[in-house]
Amino acid sequence: KKLGNNPIADARRIAAAAKTLGELRTAIERFDGCPLKAAAKNTVVCDGAFDAEVMIIGEAPGGEEDTQGLPFVGRAGKLLDKMLATIGLSRQSNVYITNLIYWRPPGNRDPSPAEMQVCAPLLARQIELKAPKLLLTAGKFATQAMLGTEDGIMRLRGRKLRFTQEGLPQPIPCIPLLHPAYLLRRPEDKAKAWDDLRTVAALCDELGIERGPAL
Ligand code: URA
Repeated sequence: KKLGNNPIADARRIAAAAKTLGELRTAIERFDGCPLKAAAKNTVVCDGAFDAEVMIIGEAPGGEEDTQGLPFVGRAGKLLDKMLATIGLSRQSNVYITNLIYWRPPGNRDPSPAEMQVCAPLLARQIELKAPKLLLTAGKFATQAMLGTEDGIMRLRGRKLRFTQEGLPQPIPCIPLLHPAYLLRRPEDKAKAWDDLRTVAALCDELGIERGPAL
């Protein structure tokens, strides 16, 4: 694989070359343009069903994700699964999960703008190939990056917004959520998260997205 000295251009090129989500996943795993990869144990691309109508975008892998090579499998991920289960959503059946960044930032520090920029074409292509009916962003970073805003998460959470990007036939409904790792630190804000999940459930029903039995 030939990589030039412009990793963003490289990311765009390998993204465009991937014709399926499976090909894209392999291409991301082989991509060496993000410096975080050097210290990571694994590339963490996605989990859940390729044909799921709901797509969740988190921030970046943490320690457990880095070890297992799957997104949202640590403590925050377990809370996310529980939250989704309350409205009949799960990665086993109807949710596809990914992150802004595919490699763990050392010590779980915030992702840098450069790291987000190099991963962005790969995420854009995931969205294009996946074509979800509903996007959920988890936390400030994913929400601000996807919606191109600097508004705070407390202002944006639970709102029915729209995600657009070049090449999409139409905007995708998008609801920002509080990040489960934040909720672990601030359990007193969980009531807000339940409100937001009710909004998600209602929008799923409106959009004809099938939900399983709520747990
Ligand atoms: N937090 C995230 O944002 N993503 C993960 O995959 C795990 C924790």
